[in-house]
Amino acid sequence: MKKLLMIFSFSPFLLSSFAQVPSHKIIAGPLLGQVELRTAAIWIQVDSSVRKLAIKYWKHNDKDRSVTQAFNGELGMEFNPVTFQVGGLDMNTQYDYDFIVDEKTSGNIASFKTKDLWQWRKPAPDFSFLTGSCAYFNEPAFDRPGKPYGGDSTIFETMAKFPAAFMLWLGDNWYTREPDFLSGWGLWYRASRDRSLPVLRNFLKSMPQYAIWDDHDFGPDDSDGSYHLKDISRKIFMSYWPNPSYGENGKGIYTKVSYGDVDLFLTDDRYFRSANDLRDSIDGKPNPNKHFFGRTQLDWLKNALAYSEAPFKLIAIGSQVLNPIHKEFESLNRFSAEYTELMDFLNAQRIDGVIFLTGDRHHSEVIKADRPGNYALYDITSSPLTSGVSKVSGIEVQNPARVPGTLVEERNFTRITVSGNKGERKIQVEFIGLHGATLANWSVNERELKH
Ligand SMILES: [Fe+2]
Repeated sequence: MKKLLMIFSFSPFLLSSFAQVPSHKIIAGPLLGQVELRTAAIWIQVDSSVRKLAIKYWKHNDKDRSVTQAFNGELGMEFNPVTFQVGGLDMNTQYDYDFIVDEKTSGNIASFKTKDLWQWRKPAPDFSFLTGSCAYFNEPAFDRPGKPYGGDSTIFETMAKFPAAFMLWLGDNWYTREPDFLSGWGLWYRASRDRSLPVLRNFLKSMPQYAIWDDHDFGPDDSDGSYHLKDISRKIFMSYWPNPSYGENGKGIYTKVSYGDVDLFLTDDRYFRSANDLRDSIDGKPNPNKHFFGRTQLDWLKNALAYSEAPFKLIAIGSQVLNPIHKEFESLNRFSAEYTELMDFLNAQRIDGVIFLTGDRHHSEVIKADRPGNYALYDITSSPLTSGVSKVSGIEVQNPARVPGTLVEERNFTRITVSGNKGERKIQVEFIGLHGATLANWSVNERELKH
């Protein structure tokens, strides 16, 4: 466990902190992680020459009373991602912060605002968050020849201009290539290099960032729990995404995030996954040995859903869930045993307010699944941020399960807005293009998601 040392700003340690740190020493970040009522997680990556690192933070307009928290863990490695956990903050308060690298300030002041305590006091806040999946950043030496797969990365500059409570990365957040996924070093290289791109800088510090993964940031295309470097991938995920927690018993990366009166269940569709081609049924019955979430995660998800009283329970999964046309791509409903178990549980336990949030497909859409005697389930698919667009083809062009008018076949991100009075909360979904134009939208009221 990393020990953290608190030093106040009148300490001699900081007397030399007026000169600015050379820019090459900060490889990436800051990236804002989870911000709660009295805590904030802030991530940064420094280069191997850095010997001393600290964060300095203060209430906006009160820099005289700043606090400096030194990083007391290991530095000097080839890759040095560091997450500061800051506590003891005041609620509903803006803080500014800066980093001190080898006793020089970065001069790059950023800020965050702690949450307001609304519970038992006032109505749940209206808020928006952003989401999206599939971010490919070109690096021609390692990319496939021909037309670059990655598109205009300035979509992240556009996203930085959309004020939101947080961003949820829905997987394929970077793409490991052949030089990456065959070695642990390669996996670290890809995370480090893509995170360092200047086009991400404004966005990563503009709002808290949460993530799940999908195949490409876990390992090779369509990879599963048999991937031999999966524990290195997990370590990297934990080092690059300051999520609240990472699975259980040292396995997986699933966790939960709450904002206002919405609960988000961030699932792991890779670590425990069986091979896609494992037989889905045996003697006409779902194969109980073909896993998607795995036993421990599925039990966690079911319990966490039953515990939740949120009017909207958003289940984030790397790949689609409900699309009935799924022969050519990955989807939870190709894993019949766990798909059926989850659906039976939602029915039997009368879980209200469930919506799936998914990525991976290289287009965006809303899929609807009617359930006899129960409310319809929806799967909001948001993809791609910067990777190649794949237009739907064949029978999927006229997919009867797609909510009409929701198909987006260009690079986009999604803004989800939660608003309205108690008992009538509404979710508004907007698929937004590279330059900020709304390409499609759809909404649902909590009353439509009840038994
Ligand atoms: Fe994927």
